[in-house]
Amino acid sequence: MENYKNLEEILEKFKLQENLRYVSPYKPLEKDTNSNFFVSVEEGTFIKEKARSYEKTFWEFYMLWVCNRIFEKVSRKNKDLQVKIKVPEPYAIEKNENLRIYMEFIPGIPIKKYSEKSKEWIDEKVIKIKKKKLNLINLLAFMLGVVDRIKSNYYIFHGDMDFRHVMFDFKNLIFSLVGFDKAFVYLPEYNIDKKILERAITHEREKTLANLEDKFSHLKSYGEMVYFFNKGRDSPRLKNINIENYVKEFYQKYNIIPKIPKSVLDRIKEAAEKY
Ligand SMILES: Nc1ncnc2c1ncn2[C@@H]1O[C@H](COP(=O)(O)OP(=O)(O)OP(=O)(O)O)[C@@H](O)[C@H]1O
Ligand SMILES: [Mg+2]
Repeated sequence: MENYKNLEEILEKFKLQENLRYVSPYKPLEKDTNSNFFVSVEEGTFIKEKARSYEKTFWEFYMLWVCNRIFEKVSRKNKDLQVKIKVPEPYAIEKNENLRIYMEFIPGIPIKKYSEKSKEWIDEKVIKIKKKKLNLINLLAFMLGVVDRIKSNYYIFHGDMDFRHVMFDFKNLIFSLVGFDKAFVYLPEYNIDKKILERAITHEREKTLANLEDKFSHLKSYGEMVYFFNKGRDSPRLKNINIENYVKEFYQKYNIIPKIPKSVLDRIKEAAEKY
């Protein structure tokens, strides 16, 4: 059974604490893989089931766990932005048909979907942030800038910053990132050159800007979106976070430090080379 001698013991630690009631199949608005999804509306739990290794499953769980904490902390310090930034908190791993990750259900829709709206609809959606009125698309550009700054500051590489993996709940103003299977947060024990990671993260910024142009320029001018993206980059208050403490906490709780899958290493290298 793969490389884990004490797999049974490890899985015991990742087990769901309480059985969920009313679990039903779920079809996300945007997806392109063969994962299966379920939700428990009552508990607000999202379940992603995928035919993949323990290594990759532990890794996604780990990245969700660390990033959820980082974004939670930074978001709390930036309440004046009015938009909450979220990464789903992972709850459990269990084997069903395939391996499942149980995590927090994220409200809203993938921002890619907003590209299908009409200009009139978009222009009607105005939100006041820091005394400035922003329409929905400029707000998305602004928030992508905020997130980009946080990613650069804490050396967070998402690995798949597609607009299917960025969600926005317009009503409750919750801006979220999902899909952390290719993510990496800088930690010295993985022996990844910080400079290479920096380049990979910069490449991700360029891709995000290219996506803004590609997906939304029929709704708002690209120049305007770049302006708000940069405003977003200048906006968040950042604080010192000792990420190593999260690693320790994770180890105390789950008794493993997940190995980095080769697919993640490759993704970092590939992105760094493109910049
Ligand atoms: N915690 C969550 N709560 C609600 N919806 C989610 C959550 N995580 C993911 N989704 C939705 O499910 C979709 C697929 O999620 P994810 O990217 O994690 O799975 P995947 O198997 O990698 O699929 P894909 O290859 O399409 O990216 C996302 O685009 C998003 O719409
Ligand atoms: Mg994905």
